[in-house]
Amino acid sequence: MAWRICLFFILMSTCSDVTTGSIFEHIKGSILKLENDFNTSQSDIADKGSIFTHRFKSGLWTEANEKKILLAQMISIYSNMLKNKTRTQTPEHLREIIEAVEQYKTQFSESLKKANDIIEVANLPMNDVKIQRKAISEMFRVLSEVNIEEKKRERRSRGQNPRKQKRHIPNFQG
Ligand SMILES: *[C@@H]1O[C@H](CO)[C@@H](O)[C@H](O)[C@H]1NC(C)=O
Ligand SMILES: *[C@@H]1O[C@H](CO)[C@@H](O)[C@H](O)[C@H]1NC(C)=O
Repeated sequence: MAWRICLFFILMSTCSDVTTGSIFEHIKGSILKLENDFNTSQSDIADKGSIFTHRFKSGLWTEANEKKILLAQMISIYSNMLKNKTRTQTPEHLREIIEAVEQYKTQFSESLKKANDIIEVANLPMNDVKIQRKAISEMFRVLSEVNIEEKKRERRSRGQNPRKQKRHIPNFQG
């Protein structure tokens, strides 16, 4: 009986470790090892600046749900890149990071779908006349959606005190 209770608490603590978002704490050391594998201390890394991290400082990604879309896309990139690096003898630290990234991917799956929507729209072959005709046939509907968002914004900025306004914002961004 005692060992069962003990086992229960061990399982509980391992699970809560994962659910409380300490995945990062768990893999910090592994990330440093991976940096070493990829020789990230060499000076050529600084050429032309960063590819991801400068975006966090741009001031554009202050809204949590929007930031999750950006992060989801970065997670997806790491997932694809690292899964491709697995070999028959995948080192422990790499295996651990891949596992963590896959967990993040699951947690961010909805944001990832949103990111994919944006990417698919951006990559439509707009030189194709058939696609252009489709675009025009959908334009009325698309711009009426724009109109709806525009009206919401007007309503929000018209005659509401700032406190009330703040409370309302999450409703529009679910
Ligand atoms: C890092 O440097 C080592 C030693 O020069 C080299 O063998 C290895 O291929 C490099 N790794 C990468 C990812 O460039
Ligand atoms: C994955 O690895 C293969 C073979 O090494 C390579 O041809 C391919 O371009 C890689 N893909 C990515 C996304 O790195």
